[in-house]
Amino acid sequence: MSLRLSCAWISILLILPGLSHGGKLLVVPMVGSHWLSMQEVVEKLSQRGHEVVVLVPEVSWQMETTQAYKVVTYPVRQTLEELDNAFREYVTMHLTQKPFPLNALAMYKASVHVFSTFFGQCKDLFRSQETLRFLNQSGFDAILTDPFFMCGAILAHHLSLPFVFFMRGFPCNLHFSASQSPSPLSYIPRLFSFNSDRMTFFQRVENTLISLLELDYCNGLFGQALELSSEVLQRDVSLTDLVSPAAIWILRFDFVFEYVRPVMPNMVFVGGINCAKEKPLPKISFMLFDRLMKGPLNLTNKAKNNAIT
Ligand SMILES: *[C@@H]1O[C@H](CO)[C@@H](O)[C@H](O)[C@H]1NC(C)=O
Repeated sequence: MSLRLSCAWISILLILPGLSHGGKLLVVPMVGSHWLSMQEVVEKLSQRGHEVVVLVPEVSWQMETTQAYKVVTYPVRQTLEELDNAFREYVTMHLTQKPFPLNALAMYKASVHVFSTFFGQCKDLFRSQETLRFLNQSGFDAILTDPFFMCGAILAHHLSLPFVFFMRGFPCNLHFSASQSPSPLSYIPRLFSFNSDRMTFFQRVENTLISLLELDYCNGLFGQALELSSEVLQRDVSLTDLVSPAAIWILRFDFVFEYVRPVMPNMVFVGGINCAKEKPLPKISFMLFDRLMKGPLNLTNKAKNNAIT
Protein backbone atom coordinates (compact mmCIF):
# COMPACT_ATOMS: atom_id res chain seq x y z
CA MET A 1 0.00 0.00 0.00
CA SER A 2 1.50 3.32 -0.94
CA LEU A 3 1.99 5.83 1.82
CA ARG A 4 -0.48 8.23 0.31
CA LEU A 5 -3.07 5.50 0.21
CA SER A 6 -2.54 4.76 3.85
CA CYS A 7 -3.35 8.35 4.80
CA ALA A 8 -6.57 8.21 2.81
CA TRP A 9 -7.38 4.87 4.40
CA ILE A 10 -6.90 6.25 7.91
CA SER A 11 -9.15 9.20 7.27
CA ILE A 12 -11.86 7.03 5.73
CA LEU A 13 -11.65 4.78 8.76
CA LEU A 14 -12.08 7.66 11.13
CA ILE A 15 -14.88 9.22 9.20
CA LEU A 16 -17.13 6.23 8.61
CA PRO A 17 -19.47 6.88 11.54
CA GLY A 18 -20.16 10.42 10.39
CA LEU A 19 -20.35 10.28 6.62
CA SER A 20 -23.27 12.63 6.33
CA HIS A 21 -21.96 15.46 8.49
CA GLY A 22 -18.68 16.41 10.06
CA GLY A 23 -17.88 15.32 13.58
CA LYS A 24 -16.02 17.05 16.33
CA LEU A 25 -12.68 15.50 17.10
CA LEU A 26 -10.30 16.19 19.94
CA VAL A 27 -6.70 15.28 19.15
CA VAL A 28 -4.27 14.54 21.98
CA PRO A 29 -0.93 14.15 20.24
CA MET A 30 2.63 13.51 21.34
CA VAL A 31 5.54 15.73 20.49
CA GLY A 32 8.44 15.04 18.18
CA SER A 33 8.43 12.47 15.42
CA HIS A 34 5.11 11.15 16.69
CA TRP A 35 3.44 14.40 15.71
CA LEU A 36 5.03 14.42 12.26
CA SER A 37 3.15 11.25 11.46
CA MET A 38 -0.10 12.34 13.00
CA GLN A 39 -0.27 15.85 11.59
CA GLU A 40 -0.98 14.67 8.04
CA VAL A 41 -3.92 12.63 9.20
CA VAL A 42 -5.27 15.46 11.33
CA GLU A 43 -5.08 17.87 8.39
CA LYS A 44 -6.87 15.43 6.11
CA LEU A 45 -9.65 14.96 8.66
CA SER A 46 -10.06 18.68 8.86
CA GLN A 47 -10.18 19.01 5.07
CA ARG A 48 -12.96 16.48 5.05
CA GLY A 49 -15.17 18.76 7.06
CA HIS A 50 -14.54 17.64 10.59
CA GLU A 51 -14.02 20.14 13.31
CA VAL A 52 -10.64 19.30 14.78
CA VAL A 53 -9.15 20.64 17.99
CA VAL A 54 -5.56 19.77 18.87
CA LEU A 55 -4.67 19.93 22.55
CA VAL A 56 -1.06 20.92 23.32
CA PRO A 57 0.83 22.05 26.40
CA GLU A 58 1.83 25.71 26.48
CA VAL A 59 5.47 24.76 26.78
CA SER A 60 6.44 22.15 24.26
CA TRP A 61 8.80 21.42 21.46
CA GLN A 62 7.72 23.39 18.52
CA MET A 63 4.77 21.72 16.87
CA GLU A 64 4.18 23.04 13.42
CA THR A 65 0.51 23.86 13.15
CA THR A 66 -1.62 25.11 10.31
CA GLN A 67 -4.88 26.95 9.86
CA ALA A 68 -6.55 23.65 9.15
CA TYR A 69 -7.43 23.01 12.77
CA LYS A 70 -7.81 24.79 16.05
CA VAL A 71 -5.12 24.51 18.73
CA VAL A 72 -6.02 24.70 22.40
CA THR A 73 -3.19 25.08 24.90
CA TYR A 74 -3.10 24.48 28.63
CA PRO A 75 -0.69 25.83 31.25
CA VAL A 76 2.21 23.66 32.39
CA ARG A 77 4.87 24.15 35.03
CA GLN A 78 7.86 22.65 33.31
CA THR A 79 10.35 24.63 31.33
CA LEU A 80 11.54 23.71 27.90
CA GLU A 81 14.97 23.13 29.37
CA GLU A 82 13.69 20.38 31.66
CA LEU A 83 12.08 18.59 28.72
CA ASP A 84 15.23 18.97 26.63
CA ASN A 85 17.46 17.65 29.40
CA ALA A 86 15.32 14.60 30.05
CA PHE A 87 15.27 13.78 26.36
CA ARG A 88 18.99 14.39 25.94
CA GLU A 89 19.69 11.98 28.77
CA TYR A 90 17.46 9.42 27.12
CA VAL A 91 19.27 9.72 23.80
CA THR A 92 22.71 9.61 25.45
CA MET A 93 21.77 6.38 27.16
CA HIS A 94 20.91 4.83 23.79
CA LEU A 95 24.33 5.79 22.46
CA THR A 96 26.23 4.34 25.43
CA GLN A 97 27.33 0.74 25.11
CA LYS A 98 26.85 -1.43 28.18
CA PRO A 99 26.73 -5.20 28.55
CA PHE A 100 23.50 -7.06 29.32
CA PRO A 101 21.73 -6.65 31.77
CA LEU A 102 23.21 -3.22 32.59
CA ASN A 103 22.02 -1.92 29.21
CA ALA A 104 18.46 -3.06 29.87
CA LEU A 105 18.46 -1.53 33.34
CA ALA A 106 19.88 1.74 32.06
CA MET A 107 17.28 1.81 29.32
CA TYR A 108 14.53 1.17 31.82
CA LYS A 109 15.75 3.90 34.15
CA ALA A 110 16.11 6.45 31.37
CA SER A 111 12.67 5.55 30.02
CA VAL A 112 11.08 6.01 33.43
CA HIS A 113 12.78 9.37 33.76
CA VAL A 114 11.76 10.65 30.34
CA PHE A 115 8.26 9.33 30.88
CA SER A 116 7.78 11.01 34.25
CA THR A 117 9.15 14.30 32.95
CA PHE A 118 6.79 14.41 30.00
CA PHE A 119 3.95 13.00 32.03
CA GLY A 120 4.22 16.07 34.28
CA GLN A 121 2.42 17.85 31.44
CA CYS A 122 -0.51 15.49 31.74
CA LYS A 123 -0.74 16.09 35.48
CA ASP A 124 -0.82 19.81 34.72
CA LEU A 125 -3.67 19.24 32.28
CA PHE A 126 -5.71 17.69 35.05
CA ARG A 127 -4.85 20.60 37.34
CA SER A 128 -6.27 23.06 34.83
CA GLN A 129 -9.96 23.04 35.72
CA GLU A 130 -10.60 25.69 33.13
CA THR A 131 -9.24 23.53 30.31
CA LEU A 132 -11.12 20.47 31.53
CA ARG A 133 -14.36 22.43 31.74
CA PHE A 134 -13.82 23.77 28.24
CA LEU A 135 -13.13 20.29 26.87
CA ASN A 136 -16.17 18.84 28.59
CA GLN A 137 -18.44 21.59 27.30
CA SER A 138 -17.15 21.37 23.75
CA GLY A 139 -19.16 18.25 23.04
CA PHE A 140 -16.53 16.25 21.20
CA ASP A 141 -17.58 13.06 19.46
CA ALA A 142 -14.29 11.24 19.92
CA ILE A 143 -10.63 11.53 20.83
CA LEU A 144 -7.80 10.64 18.49
CA THR A 145 -4.61 10.15 20.44
CA ASP A 146 -1.07 8.91 20.27
CA PRO A 147 -1.26 6.94 23.48
CA PHE A 148 2.38 6.49 24.41
CA PHE A 149 2.21 8.78 27.42
CA MET A 150 -1.37 7.64 28.19
CA CYS A 151 -2.69 11.18 28.62
CA GLY A 152 -5.23 10.95 25.79
CA ALA A 153 -6.58 7.67 27.14
CA ILE A 154 -7.00 9.07 30.66
CA LEU A 155 -8.72 12.14 29.27
CA ALA A 156 -11.05 10.00 27.17
CA HIS A 157 -12.08 8.00 30.25
CA HIS A 158 -12.57 11.22 32.19
CA LEU A 159 -14.77 12.76 29.50
CA SER A 160 -16.45 9.42 28.71
CA LEU A 161 -15.58 9.70 25.04
CA PRO A 162 -14.76 6.93 22.56
CA PHE A 163 -11.10 6.98 21.59
CA VAL A 164 -8.94 5.96 18.67
CA PHE A 165 -5.27 5.13 19.03
CA PHE A 166 -2.79 6.20 16.40
CA MET A 167 0.40 4.53 17.43
CA ARG A 168 3.59 2.65 16.78
CA GLY A 169 3.49 0.35 19.78
CA PHE A 170 3.56 -0.01 23.54
CA PRO A 171 6.26 -1.76 25.50
CA CYS A 172 5.46 -5.03 27.32
CA ASN A 173 3.37 -6.34 24.45
CA LEU A 174 0.58 -4.23 25.94
CA HIS A 175 -1.16 -3.47 22.64
CA PHE A 176 -1.57 -7.18 22.01
CA SER A 177 -2.28 -8.30 25.54
CA ALA A 178 -4.78 -5.52 26.32
CA SER A 179 -6.66 -6.19 23.09
CA GLN A 180 -6.54 -9.93 23.82
CA SER A 181 -4.85 -10.79 20.55
CA PRO A 182 -3.39 -14.27 20.73
CA SER A 183 0.32 -14.01 21.32
CA PRO A 184 1.84 -17.50 21.58
CA LEU A 185 5.26 -17.41 23.18
CA SER A 186 6.58 -20.16 20.94
CA TYR A 187 6.10 -18.15 17.77
CA ILE A 188 6.08 -14.49 18.66
CA PRO A 189 9.42 -13.09 19.74
CA ARG A 190 9.21 -10.63 22.59
CA LEU A 191 10.59 -7.12 22.32
CA PHE A 192 14.33 -6.99 23.19
CA SER A 193 14.75 -10.74 22.77
CA PHE A 194 16.12 -10.28 19.23
CA ASN A 195 14.75 -13.72 18.38
CA SER A 196 12.97 -14.53 15.16
CA ASP A 197 9.69 -16.40 14.81
CA ARG A 198 11.69 -19.62 14.52
CA MET A 199 13.11 -20.18 17.94
CA THR A 200 15.15 -22.95 19.45
CA PHE A 201 14.03 -24.45 22.73
CA PHE A 202 16.30 -22.15 24.73
CA GLN A 203 15.15 -19.11 22.82
CA ARG A 204 11.60 -20.02 23.70
CA VAL A 205 12.60 -20.28 27.34
CA GLU A 206 14.17 -16.83 27.04
CA ASN A 207 11.01 -15.55 25.42
CA THR A 208 8.95 -16.92 28.28
CA LEU A 209 11.20 -15.30 30.88
CA ILE A 210 10.90 -11.94 29.14
CA SER A 211 7.13 -12.29 29.00
CA LEU A 212 7.09 -12.86 32.76
CA LEU A 213 8.91 -9.57 33.21
CA GLU A 214 6.38 -7.93 30.89
CA LEU A 215 3.69 -8.65 33.43
CA ASP A 216 5.24 -6.10 35.68
CA TYR A 217 7.71 -3.70 34.16
CA CYS A 218 5.04 -1.65 32.45
CA ASN A 219 3.31 -1.10 35.78
CA GLY A 220 6.56 0.52 36.87
CA LEU A 221 7.11 2.41 33.63
CA PHE A 222 3.54 3.72 33.53
CA GLY A 223 3.28 4.00 37.33
CA GLN A 224 2.55 7.70 37.28
CA ALA A 225 -0.13 7.30 34.62
CA LEU A 226 -1.83 4.62 36.71
CA GLU A 227 -1.67 6.81 39.78
CA LEU A 228 -3.16 9.79 37.98
CA SER A 229 -5.94 7.77 36.36
CA SER A 230 -6.95 6.23 39.68
CA GLU A 231 -7.05 9.71 41.14
CA VAL A 232 -9.00 11.23 38.25
CA LEU A 233 -11.42 8.35 37.79
CA GLN A 234 -11.79 7.65 41.51
CA ARG A 235 -11.23 3.92 41.21
CA ASP A 236 -8.40 1.44 40.77
CA VAL A 237 -7.32 1.40 37.17
CA SER A 238 -4.99 -1.10 35.49
CA LEU A 239 -3.16 -0.53 32.23
CA THR A 240 -5.54 -2.95 30.54
CA ASP A 241 -8.56 -1.02 31.87
CA LEU A 242 -7.02 2.11 30.48
CA VAL A 243 -6.17 1.02 26.94
CA SER A 244 -8.39 -1.94 26.12
CA PRO A 245 -11.58 0.07 25.42
CA ALA A 246 -9.92 1.79 22.43
CA ALA A 247 -12.46 1.80 19.59
CA ILE A 248 -9.85 1.52 16.81
CA TRP A 249 -6.15 0.83 16.96
CA ILE A 250 -4.44 2.41 13.98
CA LEU A 251 -1.02 0.82 14.00
CA ARG A 252 1.69 2.73 12.23
CA PHE A 253 3.67 -0.26 11.11
CA ASP A 254 3.47 -3.10 8.74
CA PHE A 255 3.47 -6.86 8.84
CA VAL A 256 6.71 -6.95 6.91
CA PHE A 257 8.51 -5.04 9.65
CA GLU A 258 7.17 -7.21 12.42
CA TYR A 259 6.06 -10.79 12.75
CA VAL A 260 2.90 -12.15 11.26
CA ARG A 261 0.50 -12.49 14.14
CA PRO A 262 -3.21 -12.57 14.75
CA VAL A 263 -4.78 -9.24 15.71
CA MET A 264 -8.27 -8.09 16.59
CA PRO A 265 -10.58 -6.74 13.86
CA ASN A 266 -10.39 -3.18 15.22
CA MET A 267 -6.62 -3.16 14.75
CA VAL A 268 -5.49 -1.78 11.42
CA PHE A 269 -1.98 -1.72 10.05
CA VAL A 270 -1.37 1.40 8.05
CA GLY A 271 2.38 1.10 7.50
CA GLY A 272 4.80 3.95 7.21
CA ILE A 273 6.23 6.20 9.85
CA ASN A 274 5.58 9.58 8.26
CA CYS A 275 2.65 9.13 5.95
CA ALA A 276 2.02 11.34 2.91
CA LYS A 277 5.66 12.35 2.60
CA GLU A 278 5.97 9.97 -0.28
CA LYS A 279 9.39 10.85 -1.71
CA PRO A 280 11.02 7.84 -3.35
CA LEU A 281 13.70 6.16 -1.27
CA PRO A 282 17.17 7.32 -2.30
CA LYS A 283 19.16 4.79 -4.36
CA ILE A 284 21.74 4.57 -1.64
CA SER A 285 19.23 2.88 0.64
CA PHE A 286 18.83 0.01 -1.85
CA MET A 287 22.58 -0.25 -2.24
CA LEU A 288 23.01 -0.43 1.52
CA PHE A 289 20.28 -3.02 1.71
CA ASP A 290 21.95 -5.14 -0.97
CA ARG A 291 25.20 -4.95 0.85
CA LEU A 292 23.57 -5.90 4.06
CA MET A 293 22.00 -8.96 2.48
CA LYS A 294 25.18 -10.18 0.77
CA GLY A 295 28.08 -8.79 2.60
CA PRO A 296 29.31 -7.82 5.99
CA LEU A 297 26.67 -9.43 8.14
CA ASN A 298 27.16 -12.74 6.39
CA LEU A 299 23.54 -13.71 6.64
CA THR A 300 22.79 -17.31 5.83
CA ASN A 301 20.32 -18.12 3.10
CA LYS A 302 17.82 -19.17 5.69
CA ALA A 303 18.06 -15.86 7.50
CA LYS A 304 17.71 -14.05 4.18
CA ASN A 305 14.57 -15.97 3.41
CA ASN A 306 13.19 -15.18 6.82
CA ALA A 307 13.93 -11.54 6.35
CA ILE A 308 12.14 -11.49 3.02
CA THR A 309 9.09 -13.50 3.90
C1 LIG B 1 -19.35 17.41 31.91
O1 LIG B 1 -20.51 18.19 31.87
C2 LIG B 1 -21.70 17.49 32.19
C3 LIG B 1 -22.89 18.39 31.95
O2 LIG B 1 -22.59 19.71 31.99
C4 LIG B 1 -21.62 17.01 33.63
O3 LIG B 1 -22.77 16.31 33.97
C5 LIG B 1 -20.38 16.11 33.77
O4 LIG B 1 -20.23 15.72 35.11
C6 LIG B 1 -19.15 16.83 33.31
N1 LIG B 1 -18.05 15.88 33.28
C7 LIG B 1 -16.85 16.15 33.80
C8 LIG B 1 -15.86 15.09 33.72
O5 LIG B 1 -16.60 17.21 34.34
